[in-house]
Amino acid sequence: MQRGRFITFEGGEGTGKSTQARKLAERLEAAGISVIVTREPGGTVLGEDIRALILKDRPQDPLTELLLFAAARAEHMTAVIRPALDDGTWVISDRFIDSTRVYQGKLYGIEPELLASLEKFIVGHDLPTLTLIIDLPAETSMERAHTRGTLSRYDAARVDTHKFLRDGFLEIADAEPERCVLIDGNLPVESVATAVWQAVHERLLANVVA
Ligand SMILES: Nc1ncnc2c1ncn2[C@@H]1O[C@H](COP(=O)(O)OP(=O)(O)O)[C@@H](O)[C@H]1O
Ligand SMILES: [Mg+2]
Repeated sequence: MQRGRFITFEGGEGTGKSTQARKLAERLEAAGISVIVTREPGGTVLGEDIRALILKDRPQDPLTELLLFAAARAEHMTAVIRPALDDGTWVISDRFIDSTRVYQGKLYGIEPELLASLEKFIVGHDLPTLTLIIDLPAETSMERAHTRGTLSRYDAARVDTHKFLRDGFLEIADAEPERCVLIDGNLPVESVATAVWQAVHERLLANVVA
């Protein structure tokens, strides 16, 4: 049996990741592909507890936060992602390693060597097959996150922070073109979904469905 494919959505708050993750899952299901949607931090009972813990009471030390996220990811890989991929099920994760690189690395200044090392031990060879980075001007994504009404401490950050984070995601898209596709998020939901589907089709589906 063929292993499942691993797709991640990345980008700042309010760029449309969760919306597009759901839409892509619907399209894959309609194409007869077995797929699960999961998210980080979270994805398991323990992971969701860790997520709630961090959002409620932000650690003072960025290392504390990194290690809590890392623990959630290790559990997520072992309990959810690897078993699904082994089963031939496709996995869509709403945020993954690139969010860690951008938030914990670029924003909070954790050494890239430590991030790379954790990535190696926790994710290993199971890197995403395809990462869709949704790009949106900082002002628009902040506005959307406000409209959505669930404002996390990241959403509430200042516009220059959002710009800084956006640049971080753009740098990754630029550095890893084999894995990443940049998606223009500044279009209606359905147009973004079409661009996502095109990328998935080109990169992953050409040999699976007509
Ligand atoms: N392409 C789009 N155009 C306009 N509004 C959008 C678009 N995509 C998502 N939204 C809206 O913006 C808000 C944030 O979208 P969401 O998918 O939750 O973003 P994220 O998961 O990246 O934070 C939601 O209210 C959603 O309905
Ligand atoms: Mg979301």
